[in-house]
Amino acid sequence: MVYRVGLLGLGTVGTGVVQILQRPGHPLLRAVDIGAVGVRSLDKPREVQIPPERLTTDLERIVSDPEIDIVIELLGGLEPARSLILKAIDHGKQVITANKAVIARYGAEIFQAAAQAKVSVLLEAAVAGGIPILQPLQQSLRANHLQAVWGIINGTTNFILSQMTQEGISFEEALAIAQARGYAEADPSADVEGWDAADKIAILASLAFGLPVEREHIPCEGIRDISATDIRYAREWGFTFKLLAIAQSSPRAASSAGPSRLDIRVHPTLLPLTHPLASINGVDNAVLVQGDPLGQVVLSGPGAGRGPTASAVVGDLLTLIAHLQTGAQVPNPLLGFPPLLPFSAGG
Ligand code: HSE
Repeated sequence: MVYRVGLLGLGTVGTGVVQILQRPGHPLLRAVDIGAVGVRSLDKPREVQIPPERLTTDLERIVSDPEIDIVIELLGGLEPARSLILKAIDHGKQVITANKAVIARYGAEIFQAAAQAKVSVLLEAAVAGGIPILQPLQQSLRANHLQAVWGIINGTTNFILSQMTQEGISFEEALAIAQARGYAEADPSADVEGWDAADKIAILASLAFGLPVEREHIPCEGIRDISATDIRYAREWGFTFKLLAIAQSSPRAASSAGPSRLDIRVHPTLLPLTHPLASINGVDNAVLVQGDPLGQVVLSGPGAGRGPTASAVVGDLLTLIAHLQTGAQVPNPLLGFPPLLPFSAGG
């Protein structure tokens, strides 16, 4: 059976996905047909060959097209991405998305809809790009009582802090380099204020601790106020600054007789140079998971960009198709988990 994919968005990641799927000999080459690609403009030059009749600006048509089995949403932003995902589910499509902003805010609504429609929504690419972390949290790490997830999950801010540390330059100078290299947007707020990392830790916390998280309640402080002097003094004392996204059960509450609380936050953190996250530099991401009886595991690697993010999307596509071929559904996250801990942001 050939599964027909409707791709929403042919930007950096969408192009990377098509490049992987069009590789000669790729295992999905014969199992997948890119039936429709939704774009903003039909006239833009493309790096990949898509038959012109399959390109469309009518994204609504893709998500309601009875010929399309799987919708891959790579638009980013809240709307129209959220509405299109919900419409795709409503029309019985399987969905793969890289959209952390939508899942962090509307994950519960989306997974509720997916459960009703008996379809799967996969999202490995939404957090930490090419690093496999959402699937391990849902599968191979589930035997554990998870205690903490600490992430460097924004490549742009990690690059800026690394530049400030290595070159002794100011935040503004490092931001200008990040913008010149295409890591930071012209308006870098979502990255430097920590909002992007907050979206991602909301998703990680939901999966790790088994309950929906209110994204808007996550305390969030960015890196704008860190100066070259702060960094220099930190180094002299054997520390480095990292923008950490943290989700952990509160040690204070956990040691009391009452139920554990979940503490979620994003802020610049001083780490001793010996800490496993201290050596994660440049645009790399890393996620440290601590659990019992596991101890600590650190997954690190490229957290953004065409190749790594497309790798995660196509990995989801392989997982989905393997399930569809056996008639099984990929279990959906969030709603599939029993609640383990009451959530108290910043607790
Ligand atoms: N702006 C994000 C980052 C892109 O810098 O990590 C990947 O989500």
